[in-house]
Amino acid sequence: MKHLLTLKNYSEEEILDFIKLAEKIKKRPKRFSKKLSRKTLLMLFAKPSLRTHLSFDIAMYQLGGHAIFYDLSHSVLGEKESIKDFSKVTSRYVNIIMARLYEHEQLEELSRYSSVPIINGLTNFSHPCQILGDLLTIKEKFGKLNGIKLTFIGDADNNITTSLIYACPKVGIKLKIICPKQLKPKIQGKYSLSYNPADAKGDIIYTDTWYSYHVEKSQYAKRKKLLRKFQVNKKLLGNAKFMHCLPASRNEEVTDEVMDSRQSLVYDQAENRLHIEKSILLRLLK
Ligand code: NVA
Repeated sequence: MKHLLTLKNYSEEEILDFIKLAEKIKKRPKRFSKKLSRKTLLMLFAKPSLRTHLSFDIAMYQLGGHAIFYDLSHSVLGEKESIKDFSKVTSRYVNIIMARLYEHEQLEELSRYSSVPIINGLTNFSHPCQILGDLLTIKEKFGKLNGIKLTFIGDADNNITTSLIYACPKVGIKLKIICPKQLKPKIQGKYSLSYNPADAKGDIIYTDTWYSYHVEKSQYAKRKKLLRKFQVNKKLLGNAKFMHCLPASRNEEVTDEVMDSRQSLVYDQAENRLHIEKSILLRLLK
């Protein structure tokens, strides 16, 4: 049994296999319509979600299975009931669990006691499903992954950047990170780092919100000031394609003009979450 908490322990072969299967499913979805018949996915959410919630729910339905939404936002997980008990109980009911939690350590604890696979639906540290979907999008748009130059610009001390750092080098994508010194990635990896927005070049410019779910509201004004010159506008984008995991704060980290331009891949990224979630579910339930 394998969990998907981060892409750190996934090999190049496993990552490419997720993408290949997603491509097959996207082409012929009906062929897979009974693959998860009588299987149940439990979806745990401690934070809001649009894409992750809908794509997993619809993926289960279209694979012939069933998804249960369980809102943790007002729950006392880890307080009134230990994560250990929660995990042992829920994993007796369902075949697989996807969880969106605040602390990555909570997810690790959940997985330690679970008898079924756990999928990370986003923590403060990692968002592997998003990046797997993004690799599918890049492959579709460029016909390859190996040799593509991707620049991430903005808040680089977050889940999206961590996941890019784990995934990109494995599939041959050259990753550059541009951010304020105070918001540089906390993990080591194979990427080049710059603090100068003028260095933003490559086939793809990728950014993310300045206010991730785990960032406290009291930090917003400070971040806005710090990140202002890292905004992706038309001039910074040049001829590159634009990527964003969404939700986007329009005219903050990215301008309307870029979001709505022909270079923007954001809605393809969102759609591909559905195809990649199916692939992840099938592979982890194999
Ligand atoms: N970094 C963002 C990603 C949202 C999908 C956040 O954690 O809020």
